[in-house]
Amino acid sequence: MAQQKRAQFATRLGVVAVTVGSAVGLGNIWRFPYEAGAHGGAAFILLNLLFAFVIGVPVMCAEFIIGRHTGADVRSAFRKLSRGKLWGCVGYIGIGASILILSFYSVVAGWTMEYIYRSIAGFGAAHTAEALHMQFDAFATSNVRPVMWTLIFLACNYFVLARGVEKGIERVSNVLMPMLFAILVVFCIHSLFLPGAREGLLFLFKPDFSQITPRVVLSAMGQAFFSLSLGLGCLITYSSYFSRETPLMKTAMLTASLDSLVAILAGVIIFPAVFTYGQAPAAGPKLVFEVLPAIFSDMPFGQMWSLLFFLLLFIASLTSTVSMSEISIAWFCDDLGMKRRTATALNIGLAMVLGTLCALSFGSLNDMRVFGLTLFDLFDYVSSNLLLPVGGMLISIFAGWFLDRKVVRGELAPSSAGGRALMRTIVFCMRYVAPVCILAVFLAGLGVF
Ligand code: TRP
Repeated sequence: MAQQKRAQFATRLGVVAVTVGSAVGLGNIWRFPYEAGAHGGAAFILLNLLFAFVIGVPVMCAEFIIGRHTGADVRSAFRKLSRGKLWGCVGYIGIGASILILSFYSVVAGWTMEYIYRSIAGFGAAHTAEALHMQFDAFATSNVRPVMWTLIFLACNYFVLARGVEKGIERVSNVLMPMLFAILVVFCIHSLFLPGAREGLLFLFKPDFSQITPRVVLSAMGQAFFSLSLGLGCLITYSSYFSRETPLMKTAMLTASLDSLVAILAGVIIFPAVFTYGQAPAAGPKLVFEVLPAIFSDMPFGQMWSLLFFLLLFIASLTSTVSMSEISIAWFCDDLGMKRRTATALNIGLAMVLGTLCALSFGSLNDMRVFGLTLFDLFDYVSSNLLLPVGGMLISIFAGWFLDRKVVRGELAPSSAGGRALMRTIVFCMRYVAPVCILAVFLAGLGVF
């Protein structure tokens, strides 16, 4: 059978759009503000930035090196590079965890679609925070609409993914990512003119170091991991479509910078509004879905702002879920020889079944508990707190200790003295700093500390 030429991203801009598209998602715009809000603001943000660069960039480089060097899906990449069966498991962890994340992430993405719909249709009579809270609760715990939106969202993924790497993923990212940045900037400018802007910005940028506790440190690291799409081989898969010309260190630095920028901009959008309208920054996961609509309903042209905001969330989610799906689709196609459409249907089909269960876990299936957690919380906990850190630790140990040094140097290919210094720093962090820090998070995730 003739070997088909492997897909590749067509342009340098495309590489940045897909990588940043994967990184920027609900993690930045939904999760980051409520985590920062719950953990005291600026101090959490500084820690998060530190982790993004000291651990995030090295682990990202490790994924890029493994992916581009082998040009293979995550399962085959580890099989090609190592004889031992044990390393092959890293691939399976990534494939399994990505489907779990895809399932619960699609439920929240589905919520954004409901809110896009509501922004157009109007929020009805509810204006007060209390009424909007009841409305959100009634929606999330109902059985039909959350499931319907989860399925519709996954169907959108199918249409992007089935078109392939270059015509689907890359083209869609090239269009959506600039749109996302444009919407972000419009929102930031608007936000800076709110009466609560000063207070909001102080909360974001004036660190109070007394707020830092071990729990805050750990959440900041978990957040960095989730937000940069690390630990599951998502970026191993994407970088297998990079050309030899793509500069890996630059791409990693740029991705970490833009991802952090978007998270901070999301904070600039949300906190001035929260303070202007006298809301609590520590409202938790419902911050975006309950607090913001209350704020929008009070603003001039609120419906338009609301539409724009949830559109932003939807775009950010779609380019991220597409990257999660690609992990298993690449495996199904490259290793198991499936057709792209069949592979996509299988991945999305699986996510539809699990996603339906997650969506229902707020409603009818709320009593179905595993270790006391609903399915939604279970999938989130198992993937974010267990599989992601374990995967990330193994990937950085693999690239730092087991991979031939020549391969690492050849892939990072520094072209200047500064580049060589950066490479040495990255390799040092890959070998020592990342594994040790990640182990600490992992143990904390298990409640050892
Ligand atoms: N980074 C994305 C976000 O911030 C989520 C994501 C996409 C992800 N691909 C991933 C998280 C792979 C972990 C692993 O929303």
